[in-house]
Amino acid sequence: MAATRLIIDTDPGVDDAVAIVLALASPELEVLALTTVVGNVDVEKTTLNARRLLTLTGREDVLVGRGCATPIGGASGTAAEVHGQDGLGDLSWSEPTVGEASEDAVEMIYRLAKEAPLTLAAIGPLTNLATLLQRHPDVVEHIERVVIMGGASFEGNVTAAAEFNIWVDPEAAAIVFAGNWKLDIMPLDLTHQAFLNDDDLSYLRNLKSEVGDRLAAMLEPYAKFHEEWVGNRDLIMHDAMAIYEVINPSAIKKSGVKAEVETGGVLSRGATWLSRSFHHAESSTRVGVEVDNENFVKLLRERLATYPSRV
Ligand code: RIB
Ligand code: CA
Repeated sequence: MAATRLIIDTDPGVDDAVAIVLALASPELEVLALTTVVGNVDVEKTTLNARRLLTLTGREDVLVGRGCATPIGGASGTAAEVHGQDGLGDLSWSEPTVGEASEDAVEMIYRLAKEAPLTLAAIGPLTNLATLLQRHPDVVEHIERVVIMGGASFEGNVTAAAEFNIWVDPEAAAIVFAGNWKLDIMPLDLTHQAFLNDDDLSYLRNLKSEVGDRLAAMLEPYAKFHEEWVGNRDLIMHDAMAIYEVINPSAIKKSGVKAEVETGGVLSRGATWLSRSFHHAESSTRVGVEVDNENFVKLLRERLATYPSRV
């Protein structure tokens, strides 16, 4: 079966990094580009981090397209307290050898979509994808499907209502949710079923690879933040769920939904209303409902073990 042509729209971000490294090691995917967006940190840093991750994995073949610096709905906030000031756990990095394309994210996605059917995995705020729809509405004819990490069926993680990727740019999310394309949403209630623990960090370190070492190092502050915040060191693999869905579409149980975003409201801004009523069973928008973490972690470990080891 031909590999799925994929662009990952991202705001790396520590969990973005795991998702990206997983995608790059998965033969089911042909990762054409990383397009970057403001989110966990500003777009200058998310773009540098995309270059760092492609240099780390030796993937000079993958393009980097810089995207939007400001949410459509106006400046909001970052998640530097979770991901570090640089967005990747504040490790020291040498200057990346992978550069940035002169083409911006939106034009890169549009060009590559017109060449052949394309899947988009959006694991940051949806500003780039909304801008793509506004600038090139015909793009939907060339997109096989969009898989996003975002939203929450119940409680948010920035406010009680809003999950971070939606909270940063609710206006963009509303545009993407209303788009005439197939959309699969991996919300917090799904992603919290997928997590790594300290045994997995030890596994990464025992790979004796640059990739394993770097991921373990950047995940450590992520675990410390989670311990301070919720009292355990679970490493929630939010963004990897969007990639896992593209790698193996049968792994995550999904339901048809009607999906809407609250852009008004004071307390509810950024809330996602995901109606799973039977009326929406055949909707072209689906929500991830259930995932087996053991199967996910097994695949993740296998894929990360394919990176070159020093021994
Ligand atoms: O709410 C989780 C999302 O917000 C993930 O994409 C993570 O990277 C953070 O940006
Ligand atoms: Ca992210």
